[in-house]
Amino acid sequence: MTKSREGRDDHDPGRRKFLKGVGIAGAGAAIADHLWTEAEAKNDPAATAESLSGTVKVVLDVNGQKREAQVEPRTTLLNTLRNHLEPAVTGPKLVCDVGTCGACTVLLDDKPVYSCLVLAVDAMNKKITTVEGLGTPEKPNAVQAAFVQNDALMCGFCTPGFVTTISAYLKKNPNPSLAEVREACKGNFCRCGTYPRVFEAALAAAKGSQA
Ligand code: FES
Ligand code: FES
Repeated sequence: MTKSREGRDDHDPGRRKFLKGVGIAGAGAAIADHLWTEAEAKNDPAATAESLSGTVKVVLDVNGQKREAQVEPRTTLLNTLRNHLEPAVTGPKLVCDVGTCGACTVLLDDKPVYSCLVLAVDAMNKKITTVEGLGTPEKPNAVQAAFVQNDALMCGFCTPGFVTTISAYLKKNPNPSLAEVREACKGNFCRCGTYPRVFEAALAAAKGSQA
């Protein structure tokens, strides 16, 4: 399996099968699948490489701005944001790349998703919000401000994912209990173990938003 950052999703067909397996396959997966099936039918490695070398233009609505990129159909939203836009959108972090950690969480039409499991072509015509779109250093949203005030991070790699998940959750449930916050964050992992402060920050943000 290729582990390079730029080419992390070069390890198809494993990713293709995985995306299909978890039910993420949409139009983009169908395009990629078609290309693979055609090449595989010819049983020709050169044809496979050629088929997969094609690119498509994607236009993404990222934090209220139209952003264009030329990517292979199998390119994930995470890879596109981080590696195919200029300037890059690097808030969503690449950690596991297989939908287990939540570091890559973005909002797709206001719902949290793992952007490493969404193809860029499937994110077209949807509103994409990354942690950068929630607030700015000068004007952070309530969750971002609460993370700073509660010292809710160590290495910070998981932080954009938590902030994004919690920001979306508090819109749905502005007055959550600790148990509800914990449940809402169950798709996000923090390897530094800052969970208590993350949950404190979430509750503080909820309280602050109501004040
Ligand atoms: S990088 Fe996407 S879930 Fe871990
Ligand atoms: S602060 Fe390091 S992984 Fe969460």
